[in-house]
Amino acid sequence: MQDRADKLRCSGKTMAFVPTMGYLHKGHLSLLRIGKQKADDLVLSIFVNPAQFGPNEDLGSYPRSLERDLDMAKQEGVDAVFVPTDKALYQEGYQTYVELEKLPGHLCGLSRPVFFKGITTVVTQLFNIVKPHVAVFGEKDFQQLAIIRQMVKDLKFDIEIIGGPIVREDDGLAMSSRNAYLEDHMRPAALSLSRALENSRKMVKSGILDAKLIADQAAEMISVFPEITIDYISICDPLTLDAVEMIEGRTLIALAVGLNKIRLIDNTILEV
Ligand code: PAJ
Repeated sequence: MQDRADKLRCSGKTMAFVPTMGYLHKGHLSLLRIGKQKADDLVLSIFVNPAQFGPNEDLGSYPRSLERDLDMAKQEGVDAVFVPTDKALYQEGYQTYVELEKLPGHLCGLSRPVFFKGITTVVTQLFNIVKPHVAVFGEKDFQQLAIIRQMVKDLKFDIEIIGGPIVREDDGLAMSSRNAYLEDHMRPAALSLSRALENSRKMVKSGILDAKLIADQAAEMISVFPEITIDYISICDPLTLDAVEMIEGRTLIALAVGLNKIRLIDNTILEV
């Protein structure tokens, strides 16, 4: 991959990169399409990164479908797919991790202590291997995108980071590889996330700007489903992820829940 990048760069071409854990869906494909517009060459990586899963999380059962993913990549005009083994990235004696001080101390980082350290470490490796000019990440994982932007700024990676909007199913459910775990009877509960976010946007439009009121109402809509446990509903500054009391300008509402142990996240921007 590094030789390929060097040759490409020598010939004056630019490269866009979309890192994923595979089991591709339309959300991933939207990022590939953005990448395709931004550079001459498009690289996709597929790697279920063990370092970002906690001991009791779904590393073993995370959905995988390499053949199907490769077909989809081909159809999107991907020029190269990088599919490393665990040993290739975390070889015997591996000991280097990249960790941010503040941004992981919010939202998903609170209940998933190793998650972002695993992500920043693997993304650093992937950046050094693939050597892209541009990398595309989804706003679905809003905190991940914020963390990658901060890391790239702090460590002076010479890579432009682009955020792609959340792609949803027709009924509003944010696309996710983990939706493969959802059974039909869980759908109404899963849909309560996007409905609660939609309702928050309506509240702000109608002039309700008190963050606690908005978060409480979202919690109420979601808690109708006893099979859901709320991890967090946070209304916060989209740059620092610090909680805010009032909606002023662009504000993020982000939430994470467990639905029969399936972790679902979603978010939207509230604008006055
Ligand atoms: P994964 O969950 O496979 O997601 C890969 C990329 O697709 C991420 O940037 C994610 O935000 C984006 N994505 C997922 N669902 C989306 C949706 N509905 N709409 C738009 N974009 C969506 O995120 C990871 O993998 C990993 O943490 C990774 C960055 C690859 C590091 O291991």
